[in-house]
Amino acid sequence: MKILTVVGARPQFIKAAVVSRELRKKHTEVLVHTGQHYDYNMSDIFFEELDIPKPDYNLGISGGSHGQMTGQMLIKIEEVLQAEKPDIVLLYGDTNSTMAGALAAVKLQIPAVHVESGNRLGTKTNPEEVNRIVTDHVSSLHLCCTESAKRFLEKEGICDSAFVVGDPMYDAFLYYSEKVGDEQGEQLIDLYGNELTLPDHYYYMTCHREENAGSDEPLIEILGAMNTLDYATIYPVHPRNTERVKRIVKEYGFTKILCCKPVGYLMSVYLVNHCEKIVTDSGGLQREAFFAKKQCVTVFDYVVWPETMKDNRNQLAKHEKTDILAKLSKEQILKSDNSFGDGFSYKKIVNKIMELKRSN
Ligand code: UD1
Ligand code: UDP
Repeated sequence: MKILTVVGARPQFIKAAVVSRELRKKHTEVLVHTGQHYDYNMSDIFFEELDIPKPDYNLGISGGSHGQMTGQMLIKIEEVLQAEKPDIVLLYGDTNSTMAGALAAVKLQIPAVHVESGNRLGTKTNPEEVNRIVTDHVSSLHLCCTESAKRFLEKEGICDSAFVVGDPMYDAFLYYSEKVGDEQGEQLIDLYGNELTLPDHYYYMTCHREENAGSDEPLIEILGAMNTLDYATIYPVHPRNTERVKRIVKEYGFTKILCCKPVGYLMSVYLVNHCEKIVTDSGGLQREAFFAKKQCVTVFDYVVWPETMKDNRNQLAKHEKTDILAKLSKEQILKSDNSFGDGFSYKKIVNKIMELKRSN
């Protein structure tokens, strides 16, 4: 059986790392990298550290408007599908690469499998929500990380093809946490290219969403909040925000924000496991905080992962200094549970793909 996997962005590399390893034991995988993320520390470092096979195709498509990026991907992925004639197209998450892969597959009548299916915020103002809805409505098999995601699909009439398999991000987190242990590994590099020493105590923050980092005001509030805390904040900065962050940190004298270049996944896992608390707008990082039993404040208007919010374990905050500080100081019950599976979702994902093939 030939499976063609489409990836393009950082969180997809992590999920593909655990699933591809299982898939390739018995099947042929053609790996297509759209090129959406392309800097060394946004792309290659993940392939190297996580032993992801080199992509068979790199389409080199990135930047531009969402429409331009998605349109170019659609054209190129279609060409690859026509040349490779896979039995199934495998897609992860909610990026433009995911939606382009889904559309290309359905137009050629190749069944698409969507991993991380069913999550919903309830607003189409969020670009990832649009990608999720489109992808889910043209996919043949819907593999959900959580029960809540399956319920969202049922409300939209997607029932028989939806299954809860657990979260491959949880599989990856468990697997690589054990590998990383207490070794820091990678050296942090600041935004000017200098080595940065990791303090003994720190908060871990990521912030890259348009809503928070696409203009100055919210970012000034978020960084301003972190700058008042007892410990420094480690902030690996997405390349899209680098210039803005550098300017704001300098202008406002936010000396307790230790900004650095994006780190590899192993370093990120280390930071999650060793930090005091996490502040983020990342879908991945808020789950990892939950997996690691760390207090998390998610600076976002919508709940993305309802299972993490129980007992205040993950709290939403507005991009306002006072709200972020209030949420950070609120007491939390720090425990994990099996809402995201048992750490073997990759096996269930591969089994479900096989069942789909047999039923076609
Ligand atoms: C994308 C996903 C988002 C995910 C994030 C993961 C969509 C709609 N969004 O957002 O769900 O959380 O990836 O990190 O697909 N850039 C670089 N170097 C890179 C990558 C990007 O400089 O390696 C710059 C480019 O100028 C690009 C901009 O960052 O235009 C934004 O990148 P893009 O891939 O469009 O969106 P993300 O914000 O990364
Ligand atoms: N991550 C990383 N390096 C960084 C920042 C984040 O490896 O510098 C990891 C993080 O641990 C998480 C994943 O990237 O697993 C999440 O990716 P991102 O926040 O870019 O996307 P999202 O999850 O919001 O779609």
